[in-house]
Amino acid sequence: KRIVVLISGGGSNLQTILDNCLSGEINGRVEAVISNRPDAYGLVRAKRYGCEAITLDHKQFTSREAFDEQLQATIDEFSPDLVVLAGFMRILTPEFVQAYLGKMINIHPSLLPKYPGLHTHKRALEAGDKEAGATVHFVTPELDGGPPILQGKVPILPKDEELDLAKRVIAIEHVIYPKVVGWFCEERLTLAEGDVIFAGKTL
Ligand code: GRF
Repeated sequence: KRIVVLISGGGSNLQTILDNCLSGEINGRVEAVISNRPDAYGLVRAKRYGCEAITLDHKQFTSREAFDEQLQATIDEFSPDLVVLAGFMRILTPEFVQAYLGKMINIHPSLLPKYPGLHTHKRALEAGDKEAGATVHFVTPELDGGPPILQGKVPILPKDEELDLAKRVIAIEHVIYPKVVGWFCEERLTLAEGDVIFAGKTL
């Protein structure tokens, strides 16, 4: 399968996907990595892996619509089966989301539906939660609101600060995200009328 990954930053999730493609755990190849930030370290990871590493700086565009149109055109050059959002920190227009419905997934650092949006670890700590985690979901027009595919849970320990929790959560992200990408590439995962179908069963 052909995969395009969108990033804005460090790209540690991207790295686990690249590694799993190389090892054969994921039956696919990352054809291109696209970043909206020119200085994203994930672009270095992409070059090292040997795929296209493209910067599309959102600041060069006059509107969100214009940026998303160019982003879509750039993605479509690679005819991907799957678009993976891996720390891509941009809100997407409904038109863009619609174009990849059922073919685009995201990872979010909370146990959705809890804490969509930013500062998830801070909010979990402030709420006194006993556990936190990450969610891989299909992307729908509602921000962080698409149907969940897989969650990874971690405990919140009494002395945890935001950074402690962030480290524990990202470690579980690195386990669950390549797993889901692998399932998709094996055609075990589809989105049908808003429901996730995994291996023939509705999740
Ligand atoms: C992760 O915490 C992910 O859940 C969120 O952005 C972060 C990306 O980290 N969407 P990295 O760039 O993959 O290291």
